[in-house]
Amino acid sequence: MEIPWWRDAVVYEIYVRSFADASGDGVGDLAGVRERLPYLRRLGVDAIWLTPFYPSPMADGGYDVADYCGVDPLFGSLADFEALVADAHEHGLRVLVDVVPNHSSSAHPWFQAALRGEGRERYIFRDTTNNWQSTFGGPAWTRVADGQYYLHLFAPEQPDFNWRNPEVHAEFLDVLRFWLDRGVDGFRIDVAMGLYKAEGLPNVGDQSFTSVSPVWGQPEVHGVYRAWRRLLDSYPGERMAVGEVWTDSPEDLARYVRPDELHQSFNFAWLQAPWSAQAFRKVIEETLSTVPFATWVLSNHDVVRHRTRYEGAEPGTGLARARAALLAMLALPGSAYLYQGEELGLPEVGDLPDEARQDPVYVQSKGELPGRDGCRVPIPWTVDPPSHGFSAGGAEPWLPQPESFAELSVEKQEGVADSTLEFYRRALACRRELAGEIPYSLEWLDSPEGVLFFARGPLVCAINCGGHAVRLPGHEEVLLSSGPLRSGLLPPDTAVWLRRAAS
Ligand code: GLC
Repeated sequence: MEIPWWRDAVVYEIYVRSFADASGDGVGDLAGVRERLPYLRRLGVDAIWLTPFYPSPMADGGYDVADYCGVDPLFGSLADFEALVADAHEHGLRVLVDVVPNHSSSAHPWFQAALRGEGRERYIFRDTTNNWQSTFGGPAWTRVADGQYYLHLFAPEQPDFNWRNPEVHAEFLDVLRFWLDRGVDGFRIDVAMGLYKAEGLPNVGDQSFTSVSPVWGQPEVHGVYRAWRRLLDSYPGERMAVGEVWTDSPEDLARYVRPDELHQSFNFAWLQAPWSAQAFRKVIEETLSTVPFATWVLSNHDVVRHRTRYEGAEPGTGLARARAALLAMLALPGSAYLYQGEELGLPEVGDLPDEARQDPVYVQSKGELPGRDGCRVPIPWTVDPPSHGFSAGGAEPWLPQPESFAELSVEKQEGVADSTLEFYRRALACRRELAGEIPYSLEWLDSPEGVLFFARGPLVCAINCGGHAVRLPGHEEVLLSSGPLRSGLLPPDTAVWLRRAAS
């Protein structure tokens, strides 16, 4: 069987607002992405995923979509999008776009009509509320002028669709067709375990992301993905879909990737695992034994950057561990999702001034929660302020960049052998070179406590999450290491790729 392109693909998430601003208004845009395609090709990724660039009042950074088939002028035009897809394909990069089916923006014409009393059955309007809370804080219900309430599992500006209404299904199939006809290679599905709510909207005790609850993971959602799969399969060129599925159970995750449903779902268990060999091994084993096509992700635009998550007592451990985790991730079977800026070793920006913060999580929690702006700070391309090359013409970026970004800029790291950028380039190039030789399966090798050794054909990966340097497993050649080795030993917070000794 021909291996589908997405099975082992490395996909790079572009949070469009924060990647590159060609128009010089302080906000990233599609033309900015297009200009940086050579950088992405050089980095060695296979595909890009673009976060929403659709017309939006930007109450949730564009995840509040007012028109599913357009481009917000903030990000450019449909012509810019088409030019971007054409150029990406020229560079050998596939393009995934975000689809947001759980909710629209309150500015969407359907919701505006609903406010006037027309077509309310496209959303979830009720005379009385239940005890559900918005994921961003506060009640999940907002009252409209005539006294009814509508449901929003996220911000009040993001009313949830009623997927029990066939009109919603038909609309989204049209939306998918619209982008497939413009050459996209696939979709990232926002809040893919949402969409259906339990009949009768019963009160819940706990609203966290569990496998199946009245709020999330209702079984009817799988029918939607079967229909989407049929549509994707009707197009040439292996179009695919990856679901954003938050769940506490690997078996539940597997339900989204049955052969007639989604191709992949994000494996957040990997991202949620602490820095621990035991925790990593558990996630790897559970993943490989439950899903046919694994994915791995360490960071995205919703979570604290992994360099900061992994920070230990000694300064510098976060970056060393982040590099080691990358090497482990890229050695695993399946596809890896990278988040812009991790190749520069960017940390979470924890000290953004209050007045700069824009995330609805911060706003809705009245400042109690910091929100997600800290992982969304614009990318530093060059050393010099005011925008470190992010904005053309030197405009101030929409979120301020800390001074430390100068040292982490692409300009500063390019060509510097031990920089994180060059390390990512080497790792991706090496993965590509080995691709034809390594099987999908993984074999565990004996290893000391706190350390993992695993092999895939000729490749052996070792990662040291413990406190002492350990001897490397038998090998013929060291291919790559995330940090310096000490006289043949693998120090703590370090990973290595080895070519196995021929037996
Ligand atoms: C997803 C997105 C997140 C957004 C939320 C609501 O989790 O990744 O950024 O706020 O959905 O659309």
